[in-house]
Amino acid sequence: MRILIVDDSRSSLALLAAQVGELGAHQIESFLDPEDALERSAGEQFDLVILDNVMPKMDGVELTRRLRATERYRLIPIVMVTSDVDRALRLEAIAAGANDFLTKPFDAVELQARVRNLLALRQSQIELADRALWLMREVKTATRHVVEREEELIWRLARAIEYRDGDTGGHVSRVAQISRMIAQSLGLSAERCHIIYLAAPLHDIGKIGIPDAILGKPGKLSPEEMATMRRHVTIGARILERGSSELIRSAELIAQSHHERWDGNGYPDRLSGEDIPIEARIVAIADVFDALCSERPYKAAWPIEKAYAEILRGRGTQFDPACVAAFEVCWAAIAALMADGRPYHLALAV
Ligand SMILES: [Fe+2]
Repeated sequence: MRILIVDDSRSSLALLAAQVGELGAHQIESFLDPEDALERSAGEQFDLVILDNVMPKMDGVELTRRLRATERYRLIPIVMVTSDVDRALRLEAIAAGANDFLTKPFDAVELQARVRNLLALRQSQIELADRALWLMREVKTATRHVVEREEELIWRLARAIEYRDGDTGGHVSRVAQISRMIAQSLGLSAERCHIIYLAAPLHDIGKIGIPDAILGKPGKLSPEEMATMRRHVTIGARILERGSSELIRSAELIAQSHHERWDGNGYPDRLSGEDIPIEARIVAIADVFDALCSERPYKAAWPIEKAYAEILRGRGTQFDPACVAAFEVCWAAIAALMADGRPYHLALAV
């Protein structure tokens, strides 16, 4: 423990230091001048302060007040030494933040008992603070593990959907990343962007409920087959309905509305404009763009510039003009992502 002793009487200071020194291997620093003590305490964390009250320049009450005004000495035990038995002075010292008093002339047994008690109090403060810090770190670590596990589950589920859909080579991962870029360009909060990034991979989760013969059909779908295929949005929303988290609620909105169109000619509800949830308007662009750039059983992959032009062509009809503008803003990053070609590089390192 580091102990600060301040007393303008050299003999009193020496006596205090000697008696406190008998309590164990504590580091004691003694000061005759309260201003010197104040300066030293600013750069040093003492664990106990013992100070005289009657001193020139600054009395003990003022020194106590100044120490208490700093965060570092807000809780450190302070003992005031005084020969004065004036009750008013003691009340003033208590108001300034003094914890205890020692009366001159010192009784060695009493002095050592009080110092020992206050050092024990300080030791408890330190242990409590250490414990609080340790608990805070533990909570942070546990929270991080839960978040990581949740994210991993989403990506593994997304991978399952891709296999069901004929392994489209990282389509959901790119849709997630492009959606996040568009959300960021739109100026959505970092938390919202992250939620969209994690909810987007589940946009086609409803395809789990579509028959293989339709899902894997190489040619054009008949009108009946198309109607069945379109049911993937409502099946997806049903899988995700009544979610308990913001993430699952966003995923439900995306699953339900990612085939709606800005002009109201989409499905399943023919929503238009801003009635379509923003998450779904964003994912609609990312989904169509990446689908155009991908090879499918019924079509070759488009060059990215051609797909880019197609998205711009859909501004105000198929797509939200603001989302298309955001897509244009982050085009360089999207083009770099498409050139990269590693499907799960950000999402899942397996
Ligand atoms: Fe879809």
